[in-house]
Amino acid sequence: MKLIRLYTAENAQRILDAARELELKDGRETAKGYAKNIKNNLQAGSSNPKAAPLLAQIQKNLYDDARFRFLTFPKLILSLRFAHYPAGGKYDWHFDNAHMDARRADLSFTLFLNDDYEGGELEMDFGHFKSRVKGKAGEIVIYDTGVRHRVNPVTKGERWCLVGWVHSLIPLPADRRIVQLLGEEMQAVRKARASAAEDQEGEDGPSALHEIYQYLCRRFSG
Ligand SMILES: [Fe+2]
Repeated sequence: MKLIRLYTAENAQRILDAARELELKDGRETAKGYAKNIKNNLQAGSSNPKAAPLLAQIQKNLYDDARFRFLTFPKLILSLRFAHYPAGGKYDWHFDNAHMDARRADLSFTLFLNDDYEGGELEMDFGHFKSRVKGKAGEIVIYDTGVRHRVNPVTKGERWCLVGWVHSLIPLPADRRIVQLLGEEMQAVRKARASAAEDQEGEDGPSALHEIYQYLCRRFSG
C-alpha cells in the first residue's frame, strides 16, 4: 500500500467543486452479488456525460504522473468514478472484483478530494494486521486489488473521492516490487555517481543495472 500526492489541495478543491455539480447515482447499481447489501454511497462514472470529460482529464493526469506510473505500471486505468459518502455512508468489508471493464484489475486506488470529515477511513486487512488510511485532499492511496477492505461509516461531514483500478503491465505484486526496488537502487547509484567528481564523465550512459531493469520489465510483463 502506498500513499502519494497527485494534486495540490487547491486543485483537489477545484475537482471537488465540479463533482458537487454532478448528478450521482446509488452506488449499489454498480455493485455485484453480496456487495449490493453492504454498499451505501453515491457515484458518477464515465457513462455520466458531465462526469466523462472530468474523469478523462484525471485519467490523463494519472498516466502522466511518474510516481503513479512507477508504482502501478499502468496498461489501462479502469472504471474511474466519483464516489460520495454522505454522513452515515459506508462500504463494508469486501473484495474488489478481479475483472473490471473486461480486464484484469491488478491495483485499486482511491483519490481523496476532501479531508474535512470524521470516520470514513479506508481500512485494509492484510491478514496479520489492519491499516486505516485517511488521505489528505489531493492524495491517492494505491493497493493490491486482492486486499480485503472497507470504508468505515462517515460520522460527520461528507467524504468525496475518486476510485479506480489499474490493469498493470506487470500483473504480479512481487514482480512489481522487484523492479521498483531495482529502480530505486538505480536512482541511488545515479545520484552517488553524479556527486562523485571522478565519475562525471559518461554518467548519463546506461548502466548494467539499467539493462537488467529493462530485461526484468519485459520478463514480468503480462
Ligand atoms: Fe472496494
